[in-house]
Amino acid sequence: MANFRPISVLWIENKVALDVNRGARSFVRAEVNQKVETFFCAHPRGKICTSEVFDRDPMRIDILSLFPETFVSPLNQSIIKRAREQGLVDIVIHDIRDYTHDKHHTADDYPYGGGPGMVLKPEPIFEAAEAVEEQLGVVEIPIILLSPQGRLFSQSVAQELAIRPRLLLICGHYEGLDERVCEHLATDQISIGDYVLSGGELAALVVVDAVVRLIPGVLGSDDSAGSDSHSNGLLEYPQYTRPPVYRGWSVPEVLLSGNHGEIAEWRRRQAILRTAKRRPDLLEKGKICEEERRWILENLLSPK
Ligand code: ADE
Repeated sequence: MANFRPISVLWIENKVALDVNRGARSFVRAEVNQKVETFFCAHPRGKICTSEVFDRDPMRIDILSLFPETFVSPLNQSIIKRAREQGLVDIVIHDIRDYTHDKHHTADDYPYGGGPGMVLKPEPIFEAAEAVEEQLGVVEIPIILLSPQGRLFSQSVAQELAIRPRLLLICGHYEGLDERVCEHLATDQISIGDYVLSGGELAALVVVDAVVRLIPGVLGSDDSAGSDSHSNGLLEYPQYTRPPVYRGWSVPEVLLSGNHGEIAEWRRRQAILRTAKRRPDLLEKGKICEEERRWILENLLSPK
């Protein structure tokens, strides 16, 4: 087994087992419906030696919102639309007002203690979440409240969520939400940044988009989540396409060289340099070696 490395398989789609350690791009072929979670391969595209793979249903994301229409267009475009059509993800939007009981479908009320604005009532949100749990027949779903008071969303949070089979997202709205939802229903709270939106809908869409593109099989073999900015702790390297010269601006020669080793090296250096210039805070976390660190310093002091 000396030359074999262990890899973790997320699931198989069309007989392709995906290696979560290396992103959706490196994969090995496997038979569908083999069980268990780890196997070994000699090469990312090599043959499976210990073939133990598990199959998985589409990821299911339920979203509770007072404004379900917000989701119609964004979830019917591009990559998310394709992922839904391919059965890789099921996204179900629930109107919180359907779980109110008065004839005006009142979902909010005045705050106890006074003060400006209205507060979302707990009952329709608890009842909607419980209806989803009942429908899915499971109780251990992560229930995530989108809130400016939550933990900050990032690529690593997206990766953490992408391996969950089910998610339930709650979009808060108006000026506030009854605290009992935060305390006794939500298992997690996520903020997409230190600013206040009118509601959680746009934040939920950001989370869904970032998560869905990480589901193995969602990005075609030509695209890869592995090279996205932040996926390896660095910003992505610069990309170019034809023409080779546009308005006198040339594509870097190395990219036209056909030398894959040199191209990979150039891209890595560019990603590091770009991160050092624009987001030095990320380099603390990024995995760069001593030699690369020295190279950054030289290039930042005397850029070529
Ligand atoms: N709701 C309002 N503002 C938000 C934010 N920044 N992140 C998540 N949900 C929100």
